[in-house]
Amino acid sequence: DLNIIWMLLIGYLIGSIPSGVWIGKIFYHKDIRDYGSGNMGTTNTFRVLGKKAGAVVLVMDMFKGSLAALLPLAFHSNANALLIAISAIIGHAFPLFANFKGGKAVATSVGALLIYNWEFFLLAWAIFLLTLYLTSMVSVASMLGFTLITLCSLFYQDWILTTVALVLTIFVYARHWGNIERIRQGKENMTPFGLGYRR
Ligand code: G3P
Repeated sequence: DLNIIWMLLIGYLIGSIPSGVWIGKIFYHKDIRDYGSGNMGTTNTFRVLGKKAGAVVLVMDMFKGSLAALLPLAFHSNANALLIAISAIIGHAFPLFANFKGGKAVATSVGALLIYNWEFFLLAWAIFLLTLYLTSMVSVASMLGFTLITLCSLFYQDWILTTVALVLTIFVYARHWGNIERIRQGKENMTPFGLGYRR
């Protein structure tokens, strides 16, 4: 189906927009990839550029996933929104506009959930914030969050949701190798939020 190919291509291009890098370069004259964890995602934007930029990048990166999930509606296609949104997640992780070195797929995945199942989206946020509060490490909250989200998806008896959540969980772990190493060495960046953080 030609429509599916177009949707996947457009989704990939949307996902490829490196929000963190562009916001940093345009408004702060800084390449966030040279600072902090070196990642171009929401967490490192908060860390390097502050709350305002972090919030903007969070919304932009989530919006990429949401927009891609809306493509089937725009194309009058009955393709599964979550499956199409994977193209944006791949774009975010391997962006055409940033040498194919992208983020860790967390925000964009969650944005896709908003369109696919807003209830589940809220559940995912609740799980993420709770794990972040308990651990004060965004990386741990992301990995643990995805694991718990996959388990919770079983209650929805939606095999596409569970399969995609499982694949994304494995992918999120794979993208966090550097973080896992830092966690093991006790050197992972802490977020000034929650029980694990000490001044
Ligand atoms: O969303 C990415 C987050 O889980 C970790 O980011 O910059 O601490 O590696 P960072």
